[in-house]
Amino acid sequence: MKIGIIGYGSMGKMLLWKLSSNYKIDKSDLLVANRTPDKLEEAKDIAVICDNKALASAADIVFVCVRPADMKSVLQEIGPCLKSDALLVTLNGSITFDMIKKVIDHKTAKVIPSLTAEIDRSQTIVCFNGLVEDRDKDVLRELLGTIGEVIELPEKEVGMGSELVSCMPGFIASIFDVICTSAGSHTDIPREQIVKMVLNTMSATGDLMLIKDLSFDEVVERVATKGGITEEGTRVIYDMFPPAADEMFNKTLEKRRLTAENAGRSFEE
Ligand SMILES: NC(=O)c1ccc[n+]([C@@H]2O[C@H](COP(=O)([O-])OP(=O)(O)OC[C@H]3O[C@@H](n4cnc5c(N)ncnc54)[C@H](OP(=O)(O)O)[C@@H]3O)[C@@H](O)[C@H]2O)c1
Repeated sequence: MKIGIIGYGSMGKMLLWKLSSNYKIDKSDLLVANRTPDKLEEAKDIAVICDNKALASAADIVFVCVRPADMKSVLQEIGPCLKSDALLVTLNGSITFDMIKKVIDHKTAKVIPSLTAEIDRSQTIVCFNGLVEDRDKDVLRELLGTIGEVIELPEKEVGMGSELVSCMPGFIASIFDVICTSAGSHTDIPREQIVKMVLNTMSATGDLMLIKDLSFDEVVERVATKGGITEEGTRVIYDMFPPAADEMFNKTLEKRRLTAENAGRSFEE
């Protein structure tokens, strides 16, 4: 089976290197193409460097890892070359199957990985159009399983799913950046040490909850004894943080809606 990756940016690069190391695929079965071919020089020992059309003619799975604005032109270019049985995979949550169908009516999957794939702990969202067969789904799940967990969602939930796994590392990093900065203004402990303490505790708390199947309430109850110090802090979070969390999702989901609208217009032209 030959796997092709079009677009060697943040996502394409991550997928190419991860598939090469984790899926242990031969160099001759891994194909890569990029608009600026010079960038592919570093990948020449793990993949065959192609142009988009040559890649689409040879690959059994074609990952299109380009930004929404470039998606239509790439699909137009590769559409006539794709093998009839190949699985087309796009990486953008705003480009719907209906938009893609206007350019090419082909079996297509959408995949949204998370940055945490870097340590093989992605929560990767997948969804499929009606043409994808069960054996294609199994192959894709197996491939993506090498970079973490695979979560299948209906297309209408891909937006929120992306917020929860693909955007979430950014949300989590910014929330704890604020907490570390505030802690720093109340202590002489160096910032570097504060960050390490908070990150290790955050990561261990997540693992503790997953391994022991604990709910948020249970953790809060275990740590925040009635009338104690932690309870003072958790009360502030529950009183003051909900409006910020609501506003965050209002803004990101609205931005997602506008991005999808713009992408839709570009597919009409
Ligand atoms: N970044 C994330 O965390 C993330 C997570 C989930 C999904 N996604 C989605 O994944 C997609 C890619 O995102 P990204 O962050 O990887 O973008 P990126 O870093 O900007 O990379 C895009 C790549 O596509 C290449 N490209 C553009 N037009 C091309 C064409 N006609 N033929 C071949 N290659 C072409 C660009 O080439 P040049 O070198 O010439 O610029 C660039 O290397 C987007 O749709 C994004 O929404 C991203």
